[in-house]
Amino acid sequence: GNNMKVGYFQSHPEFGEVEKNLEQFALRLTGVDCELLVLPELAFSGYQFVSQDEVLSLSEPIPGGPTTQRCLDLARRHGMHLVVGLPEREGERCYNSAIVVGPSGFVGSYRKSHLFFEETLFFTPGDSGLHVWDIGKARIGVMICFDWYYPEVARTLVLQGADILCHPSNLVLSSCPDAMITRSLENRVFSLTANRVGQEARGGKPPLTYIGQSELISPRGKILSRAPLDKEELMVLEIDVNEARDKSINSYNDLLKDRRPHLYTS
Ligand code: ACM
Repeated sequence: GNNMKVGYFQSHPEFGEVEKNLEQFALRLTGVDCELLVLPELAFSGYQFVSQDEVLSLSEPIPGGPTTQRCLDLARRHGMHLVVGLPEREGERCYNSAIVVGPSGFVGSYRKSHLFFEETLFFTPGDSGLHVWDIGKARIGVMICFDWYYPEVARTLVLQGADILCHPSNLVLSSCPDAMITRSLENRVFSLTANRVGQEARGGKPPLTYIGQSELISPRGKILSRAPLDKEELMVLEIDVNEARDKSINSYNDLLKDRRPHLYTS
């Protein structure tokens, strides 16, 4: 076996209160025994922006900005890897990004490839490509929320060797938690979806209700843990990472070797 303690933090951030949300998270980590913890998309900024100026003012450079620096400090202090969504600023452009940080420093970042709904008004579609990072016990791939709607993303990460799909989210579509069972099953991969709870209705916009149900799914499509719809939750479970490395379906079929890529339109 290759056991590892992994989890999600299902949070309830207050829009725009980055420092306060970060400090609440820091307090929540006290005594938590975990090696890899995934947080939601835009975990400390909030999600429902009303203007480009607002996005620009809440976006930060990676890795130089305060959120990444604070997460680096927490990762070192608690000896765990963190995957955290945040708005990234590069010049006048903003990306819906996620960082990977660990006890020995900054690991990498990912810019959301498939923007959802009004994100298309404020963010630049991600140009980072899809990446898998070896963090010691596991190779992790990062995808952000609506990227789940494109099974090519999960597949690409698994073809690159991902054992665990880390999936920061701000889910509003009710079909995602069940769909991630299929993403895990069809790729023989663990998935860790970290969603938020609560509602935002800013600037007179129709309210967005975030659906919770953060979850850990096994490579055989079993729900190992699923959080409630409307409550904060920090969950840690021990998995055997090697379960994601056995791609044999039966004595005749191997998940990846049996692919017929020449039949597929890219
Ligand atoms: C989403 O991509 N935040 C639904």
